[in-house]
Amino acid sequence: MTDAERPAGAVLAEAADAAGYAPSVHNTQPWRWRVTADALDLYAVRDRQLRAADAEGRLLTVSCGAALHHAVVAVAAQGRSAVVTPLPDPADPDHLARIGLAGHTGVTPEAMRRFQAVRLRHTDRRPVSDTPASPEAIAAIGQAVAAEGIQLHILTPDQVLELAAAASHADQVEAEDEEQRAELAYWRGGDRPAGTGIPDEVVPGQAPQTTVPGRDFVRAGTLTVGPGHDRAASYAILYGPGDEPADWLRAGAALSAGWLTATELGVTVLPFSSVIELPSTRQALRSVISNLGYPYLVVRLGTADPETAGPPHTPRLPAAQTIEVAG
Ligand SMILES: Cc1cc2nc3c(=O)[nH]c(=O)nc-3n(C[C@H](O)[C@H](O)[C@H](O)COP(=O)(O)O)c2cc1C
Repeated sequence: MTDAERPAGAVLAEAADAAGYAPSVHNTQPWRWRVTADALDLYAVRDRQLRAADAEGRLLTVSCGAALHHAVVAVAAQGRSAVVTPLPDPADPDHLARIGLAGHTGVTPEAMRRFQAVRLRHTDRRPVSDTPASPEAIAAIGQAVAAEGIQLHILTPDQVLELAAAASHADQVEAEDEEQRAELAYWRGGDRPAGTGIPDEVVPGQAPQTTVPGRDFVRAGTLTVGPGHDRAASYAILYGPGDEPADWLRAGAALSAGWLTATELGVTVLPFSSVIELPSTRQALRSVISNLGYPYLVVRLGTADPETAGPPHTPRLPAAQTIEVAG
């Protein structure tokens, strides 16, 4: 059977499968897919929402937006184009999107490269090397983000210091909040649902000496980090014009688009979301971008330390738990 002859349901089921590789806050994978003969529906799974740190579901929705974009990338890699309807059912806010298929586009090398990046992309919490990401690569990542209707603001050195202060403050507040500490410990610990969460192997063995502190994941992991200091890192804020679920979904798609582009160009991406979780630091970031829009996520961009081995891939839930194929 040629790609052009494959039934829509099979194309969409493969897209749902690929979407499972998407990044999500604390690797919660807060999504569920329903595949029918002609549509793929995306639902939020509130059981895997961070109720303490993310009560409004902002980061849950950003994570689902990343999965949605991964699905669209997988559709394109099968020579088809996707039509996405965000929030298709006003009566059900957890029904985040519906994907349908439009015409046959043929499989382009660009679509295949993008699809390959889905399997390669990962979060690297080691300090970046002293070789910065090139201006061309950063511009390409910004364009990929902008294509999804979101802006990427690269912070000036002074703004990086403001970010560092905000990140320290957010971590301190989180550490002092018992509920948030317990929630983070759950997604880091042995009791988390199998196939989710943050394993030891991807968390640094000792806190890297960086200007902007990475998230404190309760206890050290086993990932080896070099002496790098992140001096060559670029920090950026993803922001846009609104602060509603539709905007968060778009921000997630933009995160995925930027991250897959970065992966193709050899640039590592590390998200920082504690500054988004806390209202006061989210507001501080808003001032950093002169109230031009609402911040959705901070990312660090750089090139990987060639001296130490990178982290392994994090686990994923079995497809049977996240994908329902309707009769
Ligand atoms: C919305 C969002 C927020 C995230 N926030 C952080 C963060 O604050 N610190 C961090 O180290 N990783 C963060 N991550 C990365 C996730 O922990 C990571 O995507 C997840 O563990 C899956 O691992 P992988 O990206 O290597 O596939 C975030 C990811 C997303 C999508």
